[in-house]
Amino acid sequence: MTLKETLILAKKSHRKLAWLTAYDYPSARLLDESGIDLILVGDSLGMVVLGLNDTIDVTLEEIIHHLKAVRRGTKRALVAADLPYGTYKTPDQALISARALITAGADAVKLEGALPGIIRTLAQAGIEVIGHLGMLPQQVREEGGYHKKGKSDAEAEVLIKDAQTLQDAGCCAIVLELVNAPIAEKISRELEIPTIGIGSGTGCDGQILVTSDLMGLQPWFRPSFVKPKADLATPFQKAVREYIQETRTP
Ligand code: KIV
Repeated sequence: MTLKETLILAKKSHRKLAWLTAYDYPSARLLDESGIDLILVGDSLGMVVLGLNDTIDVTLEEIIHHLKAVRRGTKRALVAADLPYGTYKTPDQALISARALITAGADAVKLEGALPGIIRTLAQAGIEVIGHLGMLPQQVREEGGYHKKGKSDAEAEVLIKDAQTLQDAGCCAIVLELVNAPIAEKISRELEIPTIGIGSGTGCDGQILVTSDLMGLQPWFRPSFVKPKADLATPFQKAVREYIQETRTP
């Protein structure tokens, strides 16, 4: 069964998909052993690991470096990787970039926006493609921030049409980021492939989060829609302070 068929079957069986991000071996291994369905080596790497302001300057080489570590830590879950900004401007460039991610261990690649030509080229080459609509982090500089999408009728109509276009072009799933919840739910009802929401309500066929947001590891930045399930920054710093104390006063 192809990855796309597996995802469609999950949707038909009303099995919600739980996806998270990882960028290194130990996190990937912990997620995998916990039963996560898919691990995304997202270009959120830039903000979460590399200390950049956004995802724009993340390179293909950086994604590949982290993807290889994630692959080593993953036995059971699917692994997907983001095509970074500027690496899929033409079908030929997209094919080279996507093949590099597949060679490094990705089962699927994810790209942002309504780009049916690029998606069709990748899908026809046998590459599983996850779409990404709604708030597109690779457009954050043009848009001047992370804003909810699909609140006006006009925006909602475009989103609904784009989601259908992505499915027709061959996507195996679509991430809906910061999409007005009723519109995300409507798109999810209309598509055969699963939608994976982030900040888009509970009507999607699955959810994805940046793992450090879920774990409360980066308290200096928490998107408003995230409800952390842990506060790992506190025990982390407590352990470090204890270690410092013990080292200084043996
Ligand atoms: O880069 C990323 O981590 C993502 C997900 C949060 C959807 O695109």
